[in-house]
Amino acid sequence: MRRTEALRSLVRETRLEPGQLIYPLFVCPGEGVRKAIGSMPGVFNLSVDEAVKEAEEAAQLGLGGLLLFGLPESKDEQGSGAYDDAGIVQTALRALKQTSAAKKLVLIADVCLCEYTSHGHCGMIAETTYGHEIENDSSIELLGRAAVSLAEAGADVVAPSDMMDGRVGAIREALDENGLEQTPILSYASKFASAFYGPFREAADSAPQFGDRKSYQMDGANVREAMREIEQDLGEGADMILMKPAMPYLDVVRAARDRFDVPMGAYQVSGEYSMLHAAFERGWLEPERAMLESLVGIRRAGADFIVTYFAKDAGRVL
Ligand code: PBG
Repeated sequence: MRRTEALRSLVRETRLEPGQLIYPLFVCPGEGVRKAIGSMPGVFNLSVDEAVKEAEEAAQLGLGGLLLFGLPESKDEQGSGAYDDAGIVQTALRALKQTSAAKKLVLIADVCLCEYTSHGHCGMIAETTYGHEIENDSSIELLGRAAVSLAEAGADVVAPSDMMDGRVGAIREALDENGLEQTPILSYASKFASAFYGPFREAADSAPQFGDRKSYQMDGANVREAMREIEQDLGEGADMILMKPAMPYLDVVRAARDRFDVPMGAYQVSGEYSMLHAAFERGWLEPERAMLESLVGIRRAGADFIVTYFAKDAGRVL
């Protein structure tokens, strides 16, 4: 049964298609800007006009969609760039919506404050006897505002990645109150405090200025807790879930697939991409084969779709 490619193809259990891949974009101010990210070869900070070109290429390759992140002109304590109607991602969404490419792609807006806060955390900060702590409930109100602003600008889907408690419910309520009841929520329901986000923080300029994200993102040792997080988000109205990171957590992806009957994606995060690229650069791994194997593995674990920086490269090969 393995003798020829035709035979192998006939009995292949897991398929990988361009339409299952979501391509992340980092949008920045300016015009004609394509600033390379040192730790992520082939990934750039893009001004809106350049992001439009990327969208056209993504649509031509038949990719499933784009996930948008923003690098604002300036940051403040409240992360106001996240819910500014003239914010960077809102501006990009309006421009993208004018293109024919946008009709073929699902435009997903990441909803978080960390790219917009001067302290780099995903929520508001309070001073307590324990030191700096995340203020959950004031943060989710701002996340609701961000989701409304992004959906009004043209996001087809909003994707909260902050890991505050109750944010999916708050976002659902805010969307509904503003006539955006048709906008689905893709919740990063199971997101671990991971070292593999390192290169992203360079790309999105979102490294926390003090402390870490361990008080709101999950402990990497916990799979039962991940299932509780997903259950809560679905109960609050999440339409789809996103698992993150992917490769070091494939057992969690599988556990979620077996337990929840909702559309599920997995995010092959920046560090997963960077470590593969580091090996490619040294000639230690065959780029095309290793890339596809990493993606098929994530699909085999149970993900319906994959957010990956390899989306365009894989789309070309497929
Ligand atoms: C924002 C966010 C992060 C990523 C996606 N959304 C960074 C973080 O949580 O520190 C990471 C994505 C990647 O590493 O590719 N909260």
